[in-house]
Amino acid sequence: MKAQSLSRRDAVRAALLAWYDAQARTLAWRVSPADRRAGVRGDPYRVWLSEVMLQQTTVPHATPYFLSFTQRWPTVSDLAAVEDGDLMAAWAGLGYYARARNLLACARAVAGEHGGVFPDTEESLRALPGVGAYTAAAVAAIAFDRAANVVDGNVERVMARLFAVEAPMPDSKPELKALAGDLVTDDRPGDWAQALMDLGATVCKPKAPLCDRCPISTWCAAYKGGAPETYPRKTRKADRPRRFGVAYVLTRGDEVALVRRPPKGLLGGMLGLPTSDWRATSWSDAEAVEVAPVAGAWRDLGAVEHVFTHFSLTLRVFAAAKEGNGGASAGDFVWTPREGLGALPSVFLKAALAAERLL
Ligand code: ADE
Repeated sequence: MKAQSLSRRDAVRAALLAWYDAQARTLAWRVSPADRRAGVRGDPYRVWLSEVMLQQTTVPHATPYFLSFTQRWPTVSDLAAVEDGDLMAAWAGLGYYARARNLLACARAVAGEHGGVFPDTEESLRALPGVGAYTAAAVAAIAFDRAANVVDGNVERVMARLFAVEAPMPDSKPELKALAGDLVTDDRPGDWAQALMDLGATVCKPKAPLCDRCPISTWCAAYKGGAPETYPRKTRKADRPRRFGVAYVLTRGDEVALVRRPPKGLLGGMLGLPTSDWRATSWSDAEAVEVAPVAGAWRDLGAVEHVFTHFSLTLRVFAAAKEGNGGASAGDFVWTPREGLGALPSVFLKAALAAERLL
């Protein structure tokens, strides 16, 4: 590396680490920078558990789950001994059940094959069941202070802005990862990874970055260019195909009928509203009523839009009140109080909220 870029790297690192020393968020799983300096080490079990939860959801949503998991199961061996069903119940509300199954498989591998002690290199962590490149790097850096390159969406965004990367996502991912890797050194790798995450979450925000509070704006090419919020560049929306579907809001008093989605595929294993297929052509009223989960007085409540990674969805919303107690598939529903709908994947939450406003 050239001397000039080396000093730039060192300056960026020093500024961000100093900011982290002063501003690090207090998080349930985090060893503060001051404690870290005093020699306190993170517990790899807690680091791993928090990282798996955080791939699924936000810090505020994950925190109560993290606290309850670590209280009930203080070590990885305790977690390994849990019945599958108990873990699934504890995971409810955190999203994809495949993650929970992987969590248990990993805990059992650590308890069974590693004597309850997490391996301490990125490579050996990666060999554990269900541990992907991101989690292995995060645990290696945060729990073991290995110089691992920890790259999540936040870090990609920070790199895209810092270096004004013009290539659009997702093609730019390898470039962003390489740029992030150039900033990693043997000095405080765990704090560095967490400093970047905190910057991405609290300052270098997706829509409205708070550049006047940013410790590294001096070096930020996108800030200099005047439009940091336009990075990372994205491929045009028009490239996404559109699909059409119908969601059904079937109510019974204060409850709404949900269904468990098949384990494989989009939103696998999660609870959602009953829907039609999601197809390339739109649904007429007659078709929508024909494929409804039960016969009833279905009312058209308009449509909501949702953008998934690989397609955009226009979802018509139909609502009806449940009539009688029987019905062919009445037993297949998970009747859920309205106030419990907050944990639904956002596409269904949008549809349920649209119905709520209009009912
Ligand atoms: N997001 C993902 N992992 C995180 C961590 N360790 N700290 C803060 N935010 C995170």
